[in-house]
Amino acid sequence: MSAIIIQAPIPDPARAGPMMTAKDRSSTSSTQSSNTLFDADAQLDHTAHKPWKHFGFRRQHLDQDSKISVEERSASDKRSKTFWKSFRYLSNLTPKQVDDYMASYAIYDLDWADEPAMIAALGTDYKQKVGDSLRAYYGVINHLCALGSVEKMYIPPLMNKRVSVLDNQLLYEESVARDLGLAPGDRVLDIGCGRGRVAAHMAKYTGAHITGINIDPNQLAQARAWNVQQGLSNTFVERDQNDLPLPFADASFDAFYQIQAFSLCQDLPAMFREVYRVLKPGARFSFLDWVRLPAYDETNPEHAALMRRVKPLIGAVGTPTPAGLEKALTDAGFQVTRSDNASIDGLQAPLIDKVDVYFRALRQFVLALVHLRVLPKHFKTLINRLCLDGQAFVQMDRMRLISTSYRILAVKPDVSTAAAPVSNETSR
Ligand SMILES: C[S@@+](CC[C@H](N)C(=O)[O-])C[C@H]1O[C@@H](n2cnc3c(N)ncnc32)[C@H](O)[C@@H]1O
Repeated sequence: MSAIIIQAPIPDPARAGPMMTAKDRSSTSSTQSSNTLFDADAQLDHTAHKPWKHFGFRRQHLDQDSKISVEERSASDKRSKTFWKSFRYLSNLTPKQVDDYMASYAIYDLDWADEPAMIAALGTDYKQKVGDSLRAYYGVINHLCALGSVEKMYIPPLMNKRVSVLDNQLLYEESVARDLGLAPGDRVLDIGCGRGRVAAHMAKYTGAHITGINIDPNQLAQARAWNVQQGLSNTFVERDQNDLPLPFADASFDAFYQIQAFSLCQDLPAMFREVYRVLKPGARFSFLDWVRLPAYDETNPEHAALMRRVKPLIGAVGTPTPAGLEKALTDAGFQVTRSDNASIDGLQAPLIDKVDVYFRALRQFVLALVHLRVLPKHFKTLINRLCLDGQAFVQMDRMRLISTSYRILAVKPDVSTAAAPVSNETSR
């Protein structure tokens, strides 16, 4: 397996986390005492079979290290408000929105690597068609995810076995801030920025300014509203990441991160060259995404069948490998400093399972309400599609065939500070 660590990023106490108390926020890592974050998690676990119990739940415990309430660290201040907002949105979907959403799943049966199949299925303007499908898909699924604890639409790496999915997200994001060495005023690019919640946490945690890109205007509207509500000055740009070049000048950012959006990127080598161009020399790069691991064997019928089920579930078009990603980054000019699975023991399955259990319980509840005609029929279509194949994802992760918690860190070398090469003359 491709797991390299050339140079572990060194947390700089003057950077990454200055908005918090003096103590480095790595204190929220797996060594943290269980009575801070864990209480909230316990509630989530115990209500997994009764998802409605979870809705009004507010966390008030103090994080002993940061002295801010755990609630403040959440994706949204009121989960119940987020839930009902998305619930209302989903209730009012038009038949066309539901049909387009269901049809959009067709793109996940395809792979960027097989262009002839793409053209046969979608035509020569397949890039545009994939973009349309992504808008139809994300415009709905962001609300479905917000019915659970994945308003930020990613299952994070397992950073701490004892805390919730949401707190694992926060722990991961804080690790990214440290890996990137973010400081107040830094300009940071986030591709596939969701509802801007990750950007908000990064900005609050470090004082950096985040520019988020997203293809989906629906999520962007929420990102902007949330940004204003939180008193932040992050910027959000509507853009298909597959429309290169990126709309930014050379060397305009101090750092870059992306969380599970490059699984939808058509041309990763071209994207890495673009990210390299818009970063300043010395800037750091952080990547968390879906990969196919070396144990995956496409000629193995069991592996191939699992892959066909899991790609639509996680919403991946490409199937990159760690080695391919490292090569593409190196070819673009980056120095890869770390390439590994960010989950404890390389297993994300406990968190995937948690999310799956929750949504399957929610499904039972929704189906009952549809049956009683309390909810419109299309809820059944949506929840049935959403809950398909969660266990296949858990199985593939446990078999170490794939992961959505693969992390790569890299740096754009700063040639101005690099030692001058020793000429043959002087070395003789
Ligand atoms: C799996 S979610 C990842 C969660 C996200 N990083 C967050 O902050 O919540 C993928 C995100 O990438 C966005 N996305 C998908 N395809 C895209 C594209 N072609 N261009 C730009 N954004 C895209 C989606 O709308 C979604 O917000």
